[in-house]
Amino acid sequence: MVVARQIFGARVVVSFFLLILCGMVCGTDSDIFCLKSVKSALEDPYNYLQSWSFNNETEGYICKFTGVDCWHPDENKVLNLKLSNMGLKGQFPRGIQNCSSMTGLDFSLNRLSKTIPADISTLLRFVTSLDLSANDFTGEIPASLSNCTYLNSLKLDQNQLTGQIPANLSQLPRLKSFSVANNLLTGQVPSFKQGVATAESYANNSGLCGPPLEACQPKSSTSNTAVIAGAAVGGVTVAALGLGIGMFFYVRRISYRKKEEDPEGNKWATSLKGTKQIKVSTFEKAVSKMYLKDLLKATNNFSKSNIIGSGRSGTVYKAILNDGTSLMVKRLQESQHSEKEFLTEMSTLGSIKHRNLVPLLGFCTAKKERLLVYKNMPNGTLHDQLHPDAGVCTMDWPLRLKIAIGAAKGLAWLHHSCNPRIIHRNISSKCILLDADFEPKISDFGLARLMDPIDTHLSTFVNGEFGDLGYVAPEYTKTLVATSKGDVYSFGTVLLELVTGERPTHVAKAPETFKGNLVEWITQQSSNAKLHDVIDESLVGKGADQELFQFLKVACNCVTAMPKERPTMFDVYQLLRAIGSNYNFTIEDEIMLPMDTGDADNLEELIVAREGLDGKGM
Ligand SMILES: *[C@@H]1O[C@H](CO)[C@@H](O)[C@H](O)[C@H]1NC(C)=O
Ligand SMILES: *[C@@H]1O[C@H](CO)[C@@H](O)[C@H](O)[C@H]1NC(C)=O
Ligand SMILES: *[C@@H]1O[C@H](CO)[C@@H](O)[C@H](O)[C@H]1NC(C)=O
Ligand SMILES: *[C@@H]1O[C@H](CO)[C@@H](O)[C@H](O)[C@H]1NC(C)=O
Ligand SMILES: *[C@@H]1O[C@H](CO)[C@@H](O)[C@H](O)[C@H]1NC(C)=O
Repeated sequence: MVVARQIFGARVVVSFFLLILCGMVCGTDSDIFCLKSVKSALEDPYNYLQSWSFNNETEGYICKFTGVDCWHPDENKVLNLKLSNMGLKGQFPRGIQNCSSMTGLDFSLNRLSKTIPADISTLLRFVTSLDLSANDFTGEIPASLSNCTYLNSLKLDQNQLTGQIPANLSQLPRLKSFSVANNLLTGQVPSFKQGVATAESYANNSGLCGPPLEACQPKSSTSNTAVIAGAAVGGVTVAALGLGIGMFFYVRRISYRKKEEDPEGNKWATSLKGTKQIKVSTFEKAVSKMYLKDLLKATNNFSKSNIIGSGRSGTVYKAILNDGTSLMVKRLQESQHSEKEFLTEMSTLGSIKHRNLVPLLGFCTAKKERLLVYKNMPNGTLHDQLHPDAGVCTMDWPLRLKIAIGAAKGLAWLHHSCNPRIIHRNISSKCILLDADFEPKISDFGLARLMDPIDTHLSTFVNGEFGDLGYVAPEYTKTLVATSKGDVYSFGTVLLELVTGERPTHVAKAPETFKGNLVEWITQQSSNAKLHDVIDESLVGKGADQELFQFLKVACNCVTAMPKERPTMFDVYQLLRAIGSNYNFTIEDEIMLPMDTGDADNLEELIVAREGLDGKGM
């Protein structure tokens, strides 16, 4: 309760500041623009959209509107729009494209008319569920729907749609449910995978044919040949596409490996000859002037033996300058982003300073290479400290707790206090670095935005395919959109690593028959009420068992399957800090608040709940 009171005191002072900040940052929100244009494009005879009133400054206010689900209640970011059975009239509202992270759209049982926009795939880029059934839509089903590759469910029944169903819809890789019953459609139906569409999905149309309906009747011998040839070509295309995707993943995997093993990995560095006089742009006065040639020398021409880590965003090299200063230099993976976008992002990242974030000292670009210079962290990654190659982990409980609290603070700051807010997308024990005093510093933040978003998505997918990373939230494979709750899940996995001493992908303690990851193992144990067996034995029985259970409980909350049920990073930080209140960890205590005042109320509840925790009933 003490914590809660402090927060409430601070709230009054800071809310004012936040209001100003929010006025500047949130005023141009694209999702607000989206809902405004949806409302103005539709006739709403029964005033269902009355609650959609836009003169409000509160971050997240649109989340209270009828039919609007948000990714997070304190963020104006629409997840689903459910405007079913409201008597709405008008054309399909194109402004919907500005709800740019929306995954579900339900306009069913209204009076929407005219055609479905031909470019619907560019309006609804991440849609997983689309329901336009029981309206008055006319014209053809847009072929571009086959570009909405995340679609799980497509319902177009009970309209007046004409023409053929685009054959390419059968190539939607995730489609599970499809219905076009009660329209005026003709021609051959797409050859969907088993179970996607049944005869009922096609019922009451003007003339559909092909399995699961009756075979199509040849009109004449020529068209018959055409159909057969078409089918053959289609078959080949599908096979080629499958092969292509397979090859793509295979090649990527090889190239990942190659990056680690290639003895000539520093060829690219040699090619930078002649650009050595390029200056390194620096953010801190403390850093003396540096040139590319200094970086080349300090990293021994980016030699393989200087590599201290590599991840999705690039490879990190250890660098020792002439004066003995040690740095880390990150070579970014190639990306589609322009020089200008890169420079903008660098100036943002260079201005971000927090005790628990690894500071970016400078950067430079030479030919196609983009190099980032960071302060070195002498104690390496949390991952290497927890899972040493030789011997056992020697970190005691107070140290692990201190690291958890510091890392939570850094991540909460990125989510809630940093401007712009930053979702990390790649949290793991490998991106939590430790300085000389074992103070944790989060690295790699802000870089995900510099990667090609599709590439990021695919890598997630690849990781899912070829050995689960263990940190990726389950919803990512469905929605493919990064959220702060995805970060919370990944952070929860790190907390589990800290308290169990196990690796996220492989659980040494589990029986050999167990093939799952750490989260799956914990989930299984909790249902067996064997939870205390999962805690690292080296920590148990030293007077901190109560804290261990409380910590485990917080970790489990972070990795619940439903994103909505996970706490925010701000909650996580406060809960961990409360667990650590017996130790004198906290040095400076900067005020840190979520944008939404509502969260503070939540927090009080959480803290009250925490006081009742006893490690049982998990
Ligand atoms: C809405 O989306 C369009 C197309 O992506 C874009 O050009 C426009 O700037 C967006 N408007 C706002 C207010 O975000
Ligand atoms: C703004 O929205 C919040 C959250 O829905 C609500 O509590 C508040 O009363 C609204 N303020 C105004 C001026 O409408
Ligand atoms: C699908 O997307 C690709 C690539 O963006 C584009 O070339 C193609 O025209 C699109 N297909 C349709 C039917 O819109
Ligand atoms: C259907 O898919 C094939 C192969 O991917 C492509 O060549 C063709 O252009 C697509 N047709 C339409 C109408 O998008
Ligand atoms: C097809 O139309 C008939 C008559 O209107 C109706 O009874 C039936 O439910 C319809 N089938 C489907 C699958 O909607």
